[in-house]
Amino acid sequence: MSSAIEVTHAPTVSPSGAALGADIGSIDLNEALAPAQVDAIKAAWADHLVLRFRNQKRLTLENLVAFSRHFGTLDKRPTASGKMSVEHDALPPAITVISNVKVGGKPLGALGDGEAVWHADMTYNERPPKGACLYAVEVPPAGGDTHFSNMYRAYETLDPTLQSRIRDLRCVHDASRNSAGELRLGFSDNTDPRQTVGATHPLVSVHAVTGRACLLLGRRRNAYIAGLDLEESEALLDQLWAHATRPELTWTQVWKVGDVMMWDNSCTMHRRDSFDPGARRLMYRTQIAGDAVR
Ligand code: OGA
Ligand code: MN
Repeated sequence: MSSAIEVTHAPTVSPSGAALGADIGSIDLNEALAPAQVDAIKAAWADHLVLRFRNQKRLTLENLVAFSRHFGTLDKRPTASGKMSVEHDALPPAITVISNVKVGGKPLGALGDGEAVWHADMTYNERPPKGACLYAVEVPPAGGDTHFSNMYRAYETLDPTLQSRIRDLRCVHDASRNSAGELRLGFSDNTDPRQTVGATHPLVSVHAVTGRACLLLGRRRNAYIAGLDLEESEALLDQLWAHATRPELTWTQVWKVGDVMMWDNSCTMHRRDSFDPGARRLMYRTQIAGDAVR
């Protein structure tokens, strides 16, 4: 038997050329990563905000969890309490299913086949997640693309007058509905932004790792800027949202089976296109716990 010589490949980083995003190559997420590889991925994540790892078709859920754990503590999947068609107890507790596939009339996972409007994940919590990894096992032939937007750039490209106007403003983030528009368990159907239940965060936050300022918008529905008249708050939010979701700030992921996307949830937003309800889309997701917003 020949003794194997350990060769650790430095991952390659190929920027998308858009406002954010890079492909990471020469890496198999099913293998244990060397510390230098993890460091290289962390550096690329800080630089490019959203990373894509293609051709990870062999990846097991246990190894998706092991990979994700390099970047922080993982959140447990939320309890679906009878909404899902199968009990997920057999899956690792850090794995959430994102899928429209139905078994016996009930979905296998979350988010369905409709549009998921622009959002950052769970910013209605005091400590929103730091990021998430989404692994594609089945993708529809068309639609279901995921768009990402760069919130550093959104802040940096604002008019300086507007930058200083929003610098000390805080906004409430609505906890009542998810990005697919579904009312979450235990919330009433509020339509008055002044009555919104959810965490309040600065409109301009400082990234925990990079120290750079970014816009923190979270979700548009029922958002309200504390201390402003409702009309004033609505007008300012409309202006900021229109600015932050302009195509030149975005990058679009057209999914292939075996893709793993990893996004920084503090300095990006994302939205998903709808797709044919007759097509199948099946993804597995992990979520990395975050720190208090600064
Ligand atoms: C998410 C999400 C989008 C998608 O998992 O947080 O928004 O493309 N998913 O399924
Ligand atoms: Mn999301």
